[in-house]
Amino acid sequence: MTATFDKTSPAVAGGPPVGDSPLDMAGLSWILFGHAAFQYLNAASELDLFELVRDNPGLTRAEIGAKLQLAERATDVLLLGVTSTGMLTVDSGRYHVAAVLEQLIDTDDWQRFKDTVAFEQYVVYEGQLDFTESLRTNSNVGLRRVRGTGRDLYHRLSENPHMESVFYRYMRSWSELANQHLVEKLDLSATTRLLDCGGGDAVNAIALAEANPHLSVTVFEIPPTGPITEKKISEAGHADRISVITGDMFSDPFPQGFDTVMFAHQLVIWTLEENTTLLRKAYEALPEGGRVVIFNSMSNDEGDGPVVAALDSVYFAALPAEGGMIYSWAQHEKCLSEAGFRDFQRIPFPGWTPHGVIIATK
Ligand SMILES: C[S@@+](CC[C@H](N)C(=O)[O-])C[C@H]1O[C@@H](n2cnc3c(N)ncnc32)[C@H](O)[C@@H]1O
Repeated sequence: MTATFDKTSPAVAGGPPVGDSPLDMAGLSWILFGHAAFQYLNAASELDLFELVRDNPGLTRAEIGAKLQLAERATDVLLLGVTSTGMLTVDSGRYHVAAVLEQLIDTDDWQRFKDTVAFEQYVVYEGQLDFTESLRTNSNVGLRRVRGTGRDLYHRLSENPHMESVFYRYMRSWSELANQHLVEKLDLSATTRLLDCGGGDAVNAIALAEANPHLSVTVFEIPPTGPITEKKISEAGHADRISVITGDMFSDPFPQGFDTVMFAHQLVIWTLEENTTLLRKAYEALPEGGRVVIFNSMSNDEGDGPVVAALDSVYFAALPAEGGMIYSWAQHEKCLSEAGFRDFQRIPFPGWTPHGVIIATK
């Protein structure tokens, strides 16, 4: 049977391919134009369209155009996109926000979602143009599109102030989308000193310190990020219990004297060999009985999902460093074994991001 590509077919108006149903032409067309669907989301996010329609349900096309100060044709394009993709609904010429967005807007996660949209647009998007070449060469060819001389994306952020602020706003939000589960599931009652390797702006260090008043945390970060980390710690009022050590976790020795070492959104960046190296350094720095914590998105051991893990892996393959991806639970556990750790505990988190944690013991 020949597949037909009929853009007027009601099937094509459906959503992207999901679950176990076989891919059809509608799903394939969503993939084909996935980048354009994202542009409607990004434009609506930047124009605050969803907030406008949520606060004023039933606005007409002309009213939306006037409020957003868009020309008629521009309004037509935007509304064609956001209605056909299901983000707005229209009934008798009056627009409403889709239920999923309406619910999200009412939560603290709304700004986190918008920060993620901005990250996809201003950090991820361009580098993905080099995805095929990154696969061919098994390295992050997309980094060539980021101005600067730093050896990886993180060492180039300080050379690109707009990208740096979008990145750290997103990183905080992406962590916050899942770290309440980290706080809940990670029992730190017997931990007094935790090392947060590549801890970014201390978003997870702060959450863990606030939930565990006896705990002190040290964030190990590269020198250009140190001031960002210090600022957030001081704004949170935790300079007495959270400190920063700047250095390079690959070339410098790991700081000593910690009973737990955490890698949060860290072991998705590097190759599996580099992950084993980092875990071995953590193992050597820990006392007997000390623990390592891996907190990030995980893919399944079958290598076929979840889809958010797959879509996020394009970025990690093409841009930040030589080679990373959303690895499977089993791949992390293999690295942990090779580094000497035992007693692995897998804890998948609920929610739309594929986050989870693995805890292992020396
Ligand atoms: C993906 S971010 C994760 C930040 C934070 N852990 C979080 O979950 O929000 C990775 C962080 O690792 C830091 N990093 C990268 N290379 C590093 C290195 N060689 N030594 C120490 N930190 C590094 C980056 O500066 C960046 O802040």
